[in-house]
Amino acid sequence: MLRRIYAVSVSPARTDKPSPAFIQTAAPDELDPAPGLINGIDSPHASIPPWFLYDQIGSRLFDVITVLPNYYPTRTEAEIVATNLRAMCGARDVTGAALIDLGAASCAKAPPLFDAVRPAQYVPVDISVEFLRDAVTKLQTEHPEIEMIGVGTDFSKELVLPAEVTATPRLFFYPGSSIGNYDPPEARGFLKRVRRQMDDDATLWIGVDLVKDTETLERAYDDDLGVTAAFNRNILRNVNRVAGTDFRPAEWRHVALYNEDRHRIEMHLEATRDLVVTWAAGQRPFAAGERIHTESSYKFTLESFEAVLHDAGLDTIDAWTDPQRWFAMFVVAPST
Ligand code: AVJ
Repeated sequence: MLRRIYAVSVSPARTDKPSPAFIQTAAPDELDPAPGLINGIDSPHASIPPWFLYDQIGSRLFDVITVLPNYYPTRTEAEIVATNLRAMCGARDVTGAALIDLGAASCAKAPPLFDAVRPAQYVPVDISVEFLRDAVTKLQTEHPEIEMIGVGTDFSKELVLPAEVTATPRLFFYPGSSIGNYDPPEARGFLKRVRRQMDDDATLWIGVDLVKDTETLERAYDDDLGVTAAFNRNILRNVNRVAGTDFRPAEWRHVALYNEDRHRIEMHLEATRDLVVTWAAGQRPFAAGERIHTESSYKFTLESFEAVLHDAGLDTIDAWTDPQRWFAMFVVAPST
């Protein structure tokens, strides 16, 4: 069901002030998230889904994380792309593409691609078009030659692109190792949804964080300034707002550890003393030292990620890494 909030058809030939189109497909908060949240908090191994990290404050804290010296992924990925952009374009033809930016947020990662890709359409996709509106409106004035269509959709559940996305080939862009937030079966499901939106000539550029020494990983998720700790503890404020709980963030300690068996960083919040969390219909005591799991961030090898892609009906055309082999950018095509 397409619910159009605001759509303008853009014709750069007839106007020197093109405006982007914004399309919201399905309302993101149709379902009340509170019961699921309470369920996770009330279970013996308490957990909170990681997307509750990204409220107004959390999104800003994450932006700060991306420029921290300890947090290497954003910086390293940008270097890989800057160094190898021509080669990435040469690996598989993407000229004149519809560039579909999955999880675009502030749309900061796509403009550096414009010169090399020369997209006919730029389609940033995020959970809410409200979040995209300012960024895309500004970008449109800087690049009037590219038709821009902001799409608000929760692609963790379903990936539907509006009929306005007509340019070919399609180039899907999924940077930042966001794929690492999904457990392996969910990652496969997500990639299959992307695969279903790909014709034979479509391409996926996807960034993934690689397995490395435990110290480097843990320092990236427990930085010297405590920004990641604040980012993690802020989830409790958001949960209080959404589910009516009475968490006091100061009573919880940020814990980030690398689980070597499962190849993932885990973020937890640990109760610093015995305490009780209360909500309208119940309460849950936590003993000092008890933890709530808030996020996993899976790490891959080039081979293990190639296998994930293969399971989803995708083939690796090529992949590039930095000299330390900390991060990788894959150029991917549908399996033939
Ligand atoms: C946005 C999911 C890629 O897992 O590295 C950063 C989120 N969490 N620091 C990541 C995050 C703590 C980030 N992703």
